[in-house]
Amino acid sequence: MCGIVGYIGSKKIGNRLIEGLKRLEYRGYDSSGLAILDQTMLKSVKRIGRVNCLEEALPEKILEANVGICHTRWATHGAVTEENAHPHVSSDEKFALVHNGVIENYLSIKKFLESEGYKFVSETDSESIVNLIAYHYKKQDTNNKSNRFLESVRKSLLHVEGTFGIAVLSQDHPGQLVCAKRGSPLIIGVGKNEHLIASDVNALTHCTHQVVYLNDNEIVHLNADDFSISTIGNSSVNAVIQTVDWDTTAAKIGDYHHFMEKEIFEQPIALTNGMRGRFSNDSSTALFGGLNISEDELSQIDRIIFLSCGTGWHACLIAEYLIERYARIPVEVEYASEFRYRNAPLDKNSLIVAISQSGETIDTLSALKEAKRKGYKTLSINNSVGSSIARECDGGIYQHAGPEIGVASTKAFTSQLMLCGMLALYLGRMRNLSYSDGCKIVEAFKSLPKLIQETLSVKDQIKLIAKEYADYEDCLFLGRQLMFPIALEGALKLKEISYIHAEGYPAAEMKHGPIALISESCPSVFLTTSGEMFAKTLANIKEVKARKGKVICIASEDCEIPEDSIDSLIKVPIAHEIISPIVMSIPVQLLSYYIAIERKCDVDKPRNLAKSVTVE
Ligand code: AGP
Ligand code: GLU
Repeated sequence: MCGIVGYIGSKKIGNRLIEGLKRLEYRGYDSSGLAILDQTMLKSVKRIGRVNCLEEALPEKILEANVGICHTRWATHGAVTEENAHPHVSSDEKFALVHNGVIENYLSIKKFLESEGYKFVSETDSESIVNLIAYHYKKQDTNNKSNRFLESVRKSLLHVEGTFGIAVLSQDHPGQLVCAKRGSPLIIGVGKNEHLIASDVNALTHCTHQVVYLNDNEIVHLNADDFSISTIGNSSVNAVIQTVDWDTTAAKIGDYHHFMEKEIFEQPIALTNGMRGRFSNDSSTALFGGLNISEDELSQIDRIIFLSCGTGWHACLIAEYLIERYARIPVEVEYASEFRYRNAPLDKNSLIVAISQSGETIDTLSALKEAKRKGYKTLSINNSVGSSIARECDGGIYQHAGPEIGVASTKAFTSQLMLCGMLALYLGRMRNLSYSDGCKIVEAFKSLPKLIQETLSVKDQIKLIAKEYADYEDCLFLGRQLMFPIALEGALKLKEISYIHAEGYPAAEMKHGPIALISESCPSVFLTTSGEMFAKTLANIKEVKARKGKVICIASEDCEIPEDSIDSLIKVPIAHEIISPIVMSIPVQLLSYYIAIERKCDVDKPRNLAKSVTVE
């Protein structure tokens, strides 16, 4: 979870580390801290709260150092306190460490080290590693000075179970930095007379675009001019330096109030970028360059399992409806965290598709690894080039939606919906979907950015509705067929950023239980288009009204809705069904955004959440 940045080089850490840390803040943000080496003295500063609290507390002198490590924490072990914030310093005060992840056997390590006289001051699992490093360092042959630091980290990690991305400073080795990873992301930034290390490429691009993605169980030894990679088991590794093409301006907020607002309003361009170059010359099907699975193999596939978490899981549900309808391939949708441990029997012609915006979600990554171990072909739809999930899969589809900084996913979600629809088209055209139906669908996708631009104009109306509904504490989101996953997503968005309790259901399911909640104090948001489900959805709306429930109805322009059945009506443009979930997502996102603003919530950094969930 959260973030690590480290620096070693000829420049002052000032802008380099703190700017990196700010760029990571969206990943986890309950506390932060920094450690540097001043001559041969380790110094650290930690603060609860946002990175600016840390920044304000940093003395000028610290920012002049040439080596340092810093961290934003998303607490897993121990409360949000300064003692538990990272960096952690070993009890002999020789080492400082930042850690992302979870050490599963930290209690036994801690018990052993306490018996050896090491003192612990935090409740974290992370502190066990830094003291273990100090222990191994002390035990090592003092004549072999050159690699003593590196080797004590390596030895320690051989005993550690769980996941980690770590960066370590040693008081005895001021010109060195040692980092390692297993399960949590870590990337080296290669500069001129300087090196950086970070858990997210976004935290490096202000200094360099030359990067090395580390693999699990690799350890790096860095100084200002050089670095070497080996495995924790001590085999050498050749570094592959890549150039990242990451537009850093895309991660700036510009004139918007929040990243979430920016990301909602830049959906037309994000969607345009995701479909660029991805239609056949005859405009009857989609094309994907990076699937790495032959058409022959794909036509053999007789079952697809979609894996994801959170919002991505809702995109998977849309994939299920669309692929079954257009390609007639059975689809199952699994929570990645459940799939991994279920040991589901799969046929050899099953294909696994993981959806992840960040490409780093550990539940999804671990489920993918499990599927690969069993020999299945794996693909991913993800928004982060070079991410762990992208690298783990046989092939995939990059979203090209640009960096998403707001914790609540918006543009990444609609881009996933679009790519799931395009995948349904592609698989359908390899099977029974006709040329003319294919052409109609391609035309629909091409019209999408304009349609989304039009839909965004409902914002002023939604602002007013948000004022009216901001004080409720419960809300239901209801829809049928393709509108059902969007109802789930609407409820998740509202919960995440406004802390209103919200649930999404298939509209017909309401009468099987949730209807008990309907009252004047629990409004419902209905989503409907004019298709075959319209009359039935209208009947469900009536059932709510009959019980004095308030109704906000989001409907396509061609729906005729009797005025007395609803309290507020938001009309969206008519769209082909394959893109209708995307159009419908816009008012749902705006509604949660403006309600959260009314409730004065911290929209981009909602409480307890983090952008990238790299713990199980
Ligand atoms: C989205 O609004 C959420 N914050 C969250 O559910 C997210 O979708 C989930 O954690 C999966 O993340 P990923 O797409 O980066 O794998
Ligand atoms: N498990 C560690 C802690 O609770 C690290 C959490 C993180 O990744 O931020 O401090």
